[in-house]
Amino acid sequence: MFNEHDIADRLSGRLIGNRVHFLREVDSTNIYASRLAMEGAPDGTVVIADCQTKGKGRMGRVWQSPPERNIYTSIILRPAIEPAVAPQITLVTGVAVAELFSEYCPKDVTLKWPNDVQIKGKKVCGILTEMRTSGEKIDFVIVGIGINIGMKKEEFHEEFRDSSTSLSEEVGTDISRLDFAVKLYASFERWYERFLSEGFIPVKDAWMKYSGIIGKDIKITLRDDIQAGKAVGIDEYGALLILNGKNRTRRIMAGDVSLTGD
Ligand code: BTN
Repeated sequence: MFNEHDIADRLSGRLIGNRVHFLREVDSTNIYASRLAMEGAPDGTVVIADCQTKGKGRMGRVWQSPPERNIYTSIILRPAIEPAVAPQITLVTGVAVAELFSEYCPKDVTLKWPNDVQIKGKKVCGILTEMRTSGEKIDFVIVGIGINIGMKKEEFHEEFRDSSTSLSEEVGTDISRLDFAVKLYASFERWYERFLSEGFIPVKDAWMKYSGIIGKDIKITLRDDIQAGKAVGIDEYGALLILNGKNRTRRIMAGDVSLTGD
């Protein structure tokens, strides 16, 4: 059990978490954070909840959010960047989470485009970035992060049981959600500030290092459409680059990636 004062005390003086909204239960921290942002909440405000009743995943999916097991958080950002490059923030977040996971499970952490962080090939973290623009400018970005910290294998819905896991299942010990949340905001802040001051290149380099798919044959499924090829990198808009059978590079903007080769 923890509350917003526990978190706020440990984040004082930082950008990320300069305001903390802690909720026992919420529909979705992303929805709550969007509402706060529309009311003027400052850059770096975070929302964190013990439980979500309508946790949102990508592409209209549900994000399993049982009480007091995991981390469900959303960060409000107001970056002075072009809306077109905002997807880079999802990759910044992935790198920040992957680096933190590596402290617990060195060598077993991979990033799966666009937004999954995996341990031993199983999903432990999902990221859902949403944005509001006014005119040509970003009004705010909401970075939603769900991290399975303490969920037991049998608690995952059957359809995810083989493809998802939690940090404590992999590490073999209990992990404090409070300690982890504090480290998460600090890691995010380091990478986010680096991104704002040095640009996307260092993020891209780190992302490539953690990527589990570069150089491999993959397919990307988006509803009825399937594209196949060799993953060769990501571009500055966060799009995945694949080399298809005709040796042509294609940019992939959305979809679910799976490996096809050995
Ligand atoms: C995905 O992999 O599909 C993205 C999952 C994102 C889940 C997090 S949990 C905190 C935040 N609030 C939500 O409703 N979704 C994100």
